[in-house]
Amino acid sequence: MHLTGTMQINGAGHLEIGGVDVVELANSYGTPLWVIDEQGFRRNCRDFREAFARKGNSLVLYASKALTSLAIIRIVAEEGLGLDVVSGGELYTALQAGFPAQHIYFHGNNKSVDEITRAVDNSVGRIVVDNFYELSLLSDLCRAKNYTQDILLRITPGIEAHTHEFIQTGQIDSKFGFTLPDGQALEGVKKALNSPNINLAGLHCHIGSQIFEMESFRQAAALMMDFVIEIHNKLGHQFDEIDMGGGFGIYYSAGDEPTYADDWADAVMSTVAKKARQANINIPRVIVEPGRAIVGPAGVTIYSIGSWKEVANVRKYLAVDGGMADNIRPALYDATYTAILGNKANIPPQELVSIAGKCCESGDMLIWDINLPAAEAGDLLVVFATGAYNYTMSSNYNRLPRPAMILVNDGNSDLIIKRETYADLISHDLIPARLNPSR
Ligand code: LLP
Repeated sequence: MHLTGTMQINGAGHLEIGGVDVVELANSYGTPLWVIDEQGFRRNCRDFREAFARKGNSLVLYASKALTSLAIIRIVAEEGLGLDVVSGGELYTALQAGFPAQHIYFHGNNKSVDEITRAVDNSVGRIVVDNFYELSLLSDLCRAKNYTQDILLRITPGIEAHTHEFIQTGQIDSKFGFTLPDGQALEGVKKALNSPNINLAGLHCHIGSQIFEMESFRQAAALMMDFVIEIHNKLGHQFDEIDMGGGFGIYYSAGDEPTYADDWADAVMSTVAKKARQANINIPRVIVEPGRAIVGPAGVTIYSIGSWKEVANVRKYLAVDGGMADNIRPALYDATYTAILGNKANIPPQELVSIAGKCCESGDMLIWDINLPAAEAGDLLVVFATGAYNYTMSSNYNRLPRPAMILVNDGNSDLIIKRETYADLISHDLIPARLNPSR
C-alpha cells in the first residue's frame, strides 16, 4: 500500500484522507468520487517551489492540464506558483479563479486567433510560441494593438525520454516546437528577434511525461544551454529564462521509483548554472512545469464494487461503477494503478482479481491482477494516484455522468466539482423542428 499526504488507516480499518473516512465520503457524495487531499496537494506545490528556489532563480508553474478547476487554481495561486495553460478553456478557468495573468504561460501547438487574442488582451505573462505561423500571427496582432508581448520559443531538442511513446514530446519527429538539430530553432530565434512587438524572453522545451531518469533532464538542459550560448555568441542576445517543461514521474505501481523534487532541482539547475558559468553568460531564470508530480499523488478515486465474474482457471473480474470514462489512462497508455478496499483497509489481501470498468468495451479494464481482500458488492475500491489526467481526460462515454470531485482537509470535505446529472447529459442536445412529432 502506497499512502501519501494525509492518507492513513483509521481505527475502524478504513482508509482516511484529509482526516475524513472514505466510507463517509462515499455515503455523503456517492461513487465514483474523485477526492483531492488538499494538504498533500499543497505540500507538493511547496516541495517543488522550495526545492527549485533553494537552487537559485527559478519559477515553478503548475501544469493545469493535469487537473484544473476554480478551487484547484485558487490553491495554486495561494501557494505562489505560476500557471501553465494550453487552451482558451484553461485560460478562462484560471482567470475566472482570479489567477494573476502575469504568472500565466500560454502553451499550445495550434493556438487559435481567438485564443491568442484573449491571452494578449488579458496580459498573460508569456506566450510560448510553437511555430513560424504563430509567430507571425502574434506579431501582427500585437502590432495592431500597439502592445509588446513577452514570449518563449518552444524548442524540440531531439531527446527521446523513456516513457510511453504517446507522451514523449522531445523527439525530432514531433508536432511540437522548433526543431533544434536541423537549424529550424536558430531560424525561429532570428525571426522572433526581428519581429515587431515581440520580446523574446527565453526558450522552452518539454521532453515528455512520467519520466524517471534524471539523465534525460540533464541532457535536455545541457542541449538547451548550448543553444542559449550559441545564440549569445552568434547573435549577441542573452535570454532571461529557460523553461524545461514538466514530466517528473510519480509512483503508480510497483517498479515506479520517483525522484524527489530536490534531486530534480539539482539536476536541472546545476546543469544550467554550470554551462552558463563556463560560457561566462548570466545564469537564466529556470522554469519548470510539473503537473502530474504535484496533483497526481494527491488524488484518489473511490468506486463501489458491483458485479463479478469468474472465468474458470483464468481470472476473476470485479466490476466497479466507473472505468474508462473517468480514467482513460489504462486503456490509452497501458497505465497501471494500485488500489485497496477502502472499507477493508486492514484486512490482508486474499485473492487475485482484475478490476473492470462498466463501459461497453473489453478494453475498459482499470487494473489487471491485483491482490485484494475478499470483495463483495458495495465494498469501496480506492484507486491511488488518480489526481492527474483523470478528470481532465474524462468523457461521457456510454452517457455516464462525470463523477463529483471533493477536496478534503483537516476532517472537512467540500464539493469542488458537482456530479453531472442525467439532465446535464442532454442539456446541450437539440432537436431540429422537423423531428418534432407534433409538427
Ligand atoms: N509542460 C508541457 C509543455 C506539457 O506538454 C506538459 C504535459 C506538462 C508541462 C506537464 O507534464 P507533467 O509534469 O504533468 O508530466 N495525458 C498524459 C500526459 C500528457 C502530458 C502532456 N503534456 C497522461 O495521462 O499520462
